[in-house]
This record gives sequence, structure tokens and C-alpha cells, in this order.
Amino acid sequence: MIAMHPAPHRPVVIFGTLRSASLARYCLTHDSPLQVAAFTVDAAFMAGNTHEGLPLVAFETLEQHYPPDSFQLLIPMGYQQINGVRRARYEDGKRRGYSFARYISSRASTWPDLVVGDNVLIYEHAIVQPFCRIGNNCIIRSGAHISHHCTVDDHAFVAAEVAMGGEGHVGEQAFVGVGAVLRDNLTIAPRTFIGAGTVVVRNTEADGAYVGNPARKLARTSLEVSS
Ligand SMILES: CC(C)(COP(=O)(O)OP(=O)(O)OC[C@H]1O[C@@H](n2cnc3c(N)ncnc32)[C@H](O)[C@@H]1OP(=O)(O)O)[C@@H](O)C(=O)NCCC(=O)NCCS
Repeated sequence: MIAMHPAPHRPVVIFGTLRSASLARYCLTHDSPLQVAAFTVDAAFMAGNTHEGLPLVAFETLEQHYPPDSFQLLIPMGYQQINGVRRARYEDGKRRGYSFARYISSRASTWPDLVVGDNVLIYEHAIVQPFCRIGNNCIIRSGAHISHHCTVDDHAFVAAEVAMGGEGHVGEQAFVGVGAVLRDNLTIAPRTFIGAGTVVVRNTEADGAYVGNPARKLARTSLEVSS
């Protein structure tokens, strides 16, 4: 079952002004009952007071304009700093009392027993089979295949067309690049970076970055390759 949502129909403020924010706004507008009220971004990145025809306000003072008892947040940012930037904004929003929207495409394939957290986006043609659990603040991009009994922990990012074998585990804050293949029963350790097209046949080490077939560990850390 999808976890209960505290405020399913509050209007949404989207964090960001980059393409991930545009994509999320487009999807919510065309494929959800949720209304997008505004955008927010760190004050240092403000370029005017509107964005895509909606108000743009500084995240630092969001409560003054869009208080947490009337609005919810959605943070669709990518995997910069091995998902650390999205994690920091999510945790800040939580501390300040915001609830978070989630978006599950009407064209994603999921099952009634799915357990999924908040601030999760699951895009079209992703397949999440029975007995899976997706944590908070995760992004599952189009066409990803998450086989039965898989777990994706908080703050992770699974890119388009990833194929994840059964009983796999993507650890907290890990990034799995586009088209990667994860053999069944594997654990991707916290903050691992898996490069595009990588074929992973062994468990990974925390903070490692891997590319190739079979996957080899790079000298650079996951933080270094994703910053
Ligand atoms: C791993 C990655 C971060 C490296 O990027 P980079 O730091 O710019 O590195 P470079 O492109 O300079 O490549 C360095 C070397 O690694 C190799 N390499 C890079 N990415 C690779 C990959 N995914 N698989 C195999 N080899 C790879 C390059 O061929 C190059 O080899 P060389 O030194 O022998 O010429 C990047 O290629 C990648 O895979 N990013 C993930 C992108 C993705 O999945 N995005 C999804 C967005 S939704």
C-alpha cells in the first residue's frame, strides 16, 4: 500500500528552476490532481520574482509566502553531490514543518502493496514489481525496472532504463546511472555512484564510483564524480 499522505491536495511549491523542476511541473499539471502554486529556490539563485509564469520565492523565507499548513513541497532535483543537495533541502523542509507531495505517473506500473515515501517521483513506464519498498526523497526515472522484493532507500536516484534484478537493495543516497544493470540479490552501498551503462555483479562499497562491464571502481569518490 502507498503510505498515507498527510495532505494530498494542498497546492504544491516546486523547488528549483532548472529542467528537473520544469519536468515535474509539467507532469503534475498534466498527470495529477495537484495544483502547482509557485517555485522556490535558494536566494542566491533567484533571477527575478517569477518563473514559468508562476511566483518565484526564496526558499529561506518560504513560510512568509507559502506556509506549511497550507502548501506542500516537491523537490525534484537531480543527483548533485551524490544526491546530497536534494537531501539537504528535503531535510530542511521537513524541519520547517512542510509535508511533501509525491508524483507517480499514471503510466508507471506499480502494485497495491507498494510502500513508498514522500517526495518521491516515479516517471512513466517505470516498473516496480510486488514486494518492493521505495523510501523518502527518491527519484525513479522513466523505464526503470525494479524487480520484486527490491528496496530503494531514502534519497536515492534510479535513472532511466536501469534494470534491477530481484531482491536488490539500493542504499541511502546512492545513484544508479542510465541503463545500468544490477544483478539480482545485490546491495548498492550508501552513496555509491553507478555510471551510465554499468553492469554491476558484486556488492559495492560506500562512497565508491563504478563504471564498465563488469563494474570497476574508479579512483575518484562518488562525491567527486557527481559534483
Ligand atoms: C561516470 C561519469 C560520471 C564520468 O564522467 P566524467 O567525470 O565526465 O568522466 P569522463 O567522461 O571524462 O570519462 C573518464 C573515463 O571514464 C570512462 N567512462 C566514463 N563514463 C563511463 C561509463 N559510464 N562507463 C564506462 N566508462 C566510462 C571514459 O570513457 C573515460 O575513459 P578514458 O579515460 O579511458 O578515456 C559519467 O560518464 C556517467 O556515467 N554519468 C552518469 C550519467 C547518467 O546516468 N545520467 C542520468 C541522468 S537522469
